Amino acid sequence: MTSPLPVQPEKPDALQTEGALKRFLTFSPGPLSDVRVFFAPGRVNLIGEHTDYNGGYVLPAALDMGTWLYVRLRDDHRVRFASTAFERTVEISLRNLRYKPEDDYANYPKGVIREFQALGFAVPGMDILLDGNLPNGAGLSSSASVEVATAWMLGTLLNAGLSPDRLALLAQSAENGFVGVNCGIMDQFAVALGKRDHAIWLNCDTLSYEIVPIQLRGLHLIIANTNKRRGLSDSKYNQRRRECDEALRLIQAHDASVRHLADVGRTDWPRVESIFEDETLRKRARHVVLENDRAKRAADVLRRGDVEAFGQLMNASHRSLRDDYEVTGMELDTLAELAWAAPGCVGARMTGAGFGGCTVNLVQADKASEFIDQVGRAYEQQVGYAPTFYITSIGDGAREVTDQVVRGRA
Ligand code: GLA
Repeated sequence: MTSPLPVQPEKPDALQTEGALKRFLTFSPGPLSDVRVFFAPGRVNLIGEHTDYNGGYVLPAALDMGTWLYVRLRDDHRVRFASTAFERTVEISLRNLRYKPEDDYANYPKGVIREFQALGFAVPGMDILLDGNLPNGAGLSSSASVEVATAWMLGTLLNAGLSPDRLALLAQSAENGFVGVNCGIMDQFAVALGKRDHAIWLNCDTLSYEIVPIQLRGLHLIIANTNKRRGLSDSKYNQRRRECDEALRLIQAHDASVRHLADVGRTDWPRVESIFEDETLRKRARHVVLENDRAKRAADVLRRGDVEAFGQLMNASHRSLRDDYEVTGMELDTLAELAWAAPGCVGARMTGAGFGGCTVNLVQADKASEFIDQVGRAYEQQVGYAPTFYITSIGDGAREVTDQVVRGRA
């Protein structure tokens, strides 16, 4: 067993930035003054899971961890991609942008480039390096982070005049249409519009939102990564979407005014529930209806600073994702259930799509190391490998960071 358990740093230190810049200059030799750098964070969703594509509420927040995108323009029609996380470099022609499985990570920025082209923008040739400190595929939106960093970069370099929410929609459209994951808008929105020490209470039907301060007096937000590989998660995610569509059609057959599953209120549920003969569809719909209600109440309790009530909503959310939506699995359940019993835990739940990935935990700051130690050891004993913990702070959304990264060197 490993001891002590690692708590990952979430900010890239100067060394990481230095290393990435050096790598970029090797990959794309030329004057430093032509290099531009953009950042887009990952996100953690505090509550409101699998509600976004059902027209409901979500409450995500941007992280300090994320993706740094280094770019230099070229004077031909080619884009070359490199990544500090993958060996493989990818070179494409802007005249023929297609999804190719072997292009791996480069498909995300490629999809965004194609969205800009579809809007009529003449996208220039570029050398692009992606660097980041988000664990890949861990439910912290590493893909949305890459997409929004690319959208922000193109929006800026092309002077496109697109608002942050428009860039978020465009990044989502790239993931839906190009990558083929039918995700909702939550991730891209949070990544584009996040605000330090605030969560975004977003109505995913209207895209109206409110910034809610997170007052964590005496508490830490701890993300715990199951370190489980997510495997077939994309196809399972798309399957949940289809089940929700089917559940909605059944409800609409009785009441055509219902546009989304999240239109059904908590008090309507006992009446609506009787429509379902299929147990699976009933459970999926019940999760969405009650989770949406929790997400609405969570914003209220957060505004009042009632963290105890918030923690209870988090726990209930996890149970619903486990029992009704069935997107947790042994690793996430073990991690959440160990957290509930650990010192200082106010609330714990899985975050993101599920099927592996991370939990988010509200923990009394003075108990944080005890919590990490106890949960980490027990998880390793039960699951066979260690989780990773991140003591998180909530950061700002996407932005250009050329000055911070390159300043004083040009
Ligand atoms: C993924 C998707 C989001 C959302 C969550 C579940 O992160 O990208 O749109 O559906 O799962 O809440």
